[in-house]
Amino acid sequence: MQFSSKIFSKADISHPKQLKAGLSTLLAQSTDCLVLAYSKLDLEAFGAPKAKSGLLSELDLLLGGSVTHANLVGDLDGQSASVCNLRADKSWALSGTKAKRILLICLGDTAKAPERNLNAYSKIARAALKQLSGGSIQNALWFVPSFAMGHRVDFIAEEVRLTIQYAGDQAYRFGVRQPALKFKAKDKADTFNYLTFAGNDACAKEMRAAVLEGAAIVEGMHLAKDLGNLPPNICTPTYLGKTAQGLSKKTGLKVEVLGRKQIEALGMGSFLSVAQGSDMPPQFIVMRHQGGKVGEAPIVLVGKGITFDTGGISLKPGEAMDEMKYDMCGAASVIGTMYTAALLKLKKNVIGVIPTCENMPSGQATRPGDIVKSMSGQTIEILNTDAEGRLILCDALTYVERFKPKAVIDVATLTGACIIALGHVHSGVFSDDEGLVSALTKAGCASLDTVWRLPLDAAYHEQLKSNFADVANIGGRPAGSVTAACFLSRFTEKYKWAHLDIAGTAWKSGAAKGATGRPVPLLVNYLLGQ
Ligand code: BES
Ligand code: MN
Ligand code: ZN
Repeated sequence: MQFSSKIFSKADISHPKQLKAGLSTLLAQSTDCLVLAYSKLDLEAFGAPKAKSGLLSELDLLLGGSVTHANLVGDLDGQSASVCNLRADKSWALSGTKAKRILLICLGDTAKAPERNLNAYSKIARAALKQLSGGSIQNALWFVPSFAMGHRVDFIAEEVRLTIQYAGDQAYRFGVRQPALKFKAKDKADTFNYLTFAGNDACAKEMRAAVLEGAAIVEGMHLAKDLGNLPPNICTPTYLGKTAQGLSKKTGLKVEVLGRKQIEALGMGSFLSVAQGSDMPPQFIVMRHQGGKVGEAPIVLVGKGITFDTGGISLKPGEAMDEMKYDMCGAASVIGTMYTAALLKLKKNVIGVIPTCENMPSGQATRPGDIVKSMSGQTIEILNTDAEGRLILCDALTYVERFKPKAVIDVATLTGACIIALGHVHSGVFSDDEGLVSALTKAGCASLDTVWRLPLDAAYHEQLKSNFADVANIGGRPAGSVTAACFLSRFTEKYKWAHLDIAGTAWKSGAAKGATGRPVPLLVNYLLGQ
């Protein structure tokens, strides 16, 4: 899927005087489908007797009555997100129209809901995109200013990025992007693969930047989805390391991958205790994007990279255990975000850190009751080997102290309890730093990749007490996501930190099983806002 922008400097349809000229410029473009939005008011004006002006009326004149016809047969509707497809006929050529189709999409009553609402926009954009997919349309021209009616230019960027995010989502097919990932003969790319955003002088700057940002977000999301969806016999810790190294060849990212010996030398006893049950060697991946000044404090992203979580000796039940291949989605989202940051040449220093291994039962595996020493020096009594995410993350969180970070955000499919708390809607966010929580919440709202704050109070730490070590790795069933976050917080005292639990949002189960690419949009939006 490709995205581009095109500026028609005078195509300003909000000015009645320029409406006709603006529309005819757009219609004269060779495209499989021109996408235009109209409001309920436009439709009412069009239906009124003697109507001779307004968007739909002008369009109707240029299209030799096509809009009138569509209205007569009941294809036009004032409801938000209702769609109407117009197909070229002979009369279109008279006005020099080259567009093969016009997709009209209704914004609803823009006067009644003047407050801009990204959720409402997302429904409209999705409805329009759905029409473009899976048929004979290969490319489309999306006229951005028509969607922006009734609100200011500064929201255009969010809308354009979101449209691209959804278009990328819709176009994603596992196994199509790389021939090596093709396991199903029938997999085919979507026929709709080129979306151009049309703007005018008023929105040119915002729109151009947003198109580049959106396209880079899609690249990062697609990479994150591929990694998540890959089977666990292919997407091993070594594969993740190789993927990160591959990105350094493609972009300016600096990538370092540490193996078992180096991880031992660092004293990551907690991380290694999870890896020891598996025949696959653990890897510790460090990816650096140096877009900021030398010496400028970096933002550090830490991703949980369990390439398969059996639970270890505290073995999980068999049902849907295949989905534990997704237990590296935190890592995948960090790799995806680093890729996007590099593609965008973000003017910031960003570091991605990924501890990755398998959690397997074996004669070498950690037992419940084992005590291990973390890199921080704190000893941990492992009461449940299935609470392994925190055990690999805690050492990574100690490791990143060396970067003197501006902020550290870890991303992990950490607890089933987070799905119970928040379902598949919001990711959980945990932090004592109000600024970080509000920046992440804002970034989530702007990309509709949302988070919801859960507590992290001292009272919950009680549940992690151990009779034999500094801390236990589980805190019992109550508030399971909170005690997991509390465990991590013990390793983050030297910097500003937030934890994202993406157990409910990183992938979908059931018939539509697949990685979502979340929280790449959230993280990229956060970085863009810094
Ligand atoms: N990777 C799982 C969490 C998970 C489970 C995410 C299901 C998504 C769906 C994690 O390693 C885990 O097993 N957590 C345990 C913790 C418990 C033993 C304290 C859990 O959530 O049951
Ligand atoms: Mn587990
Ligand atoms: Zn896990």
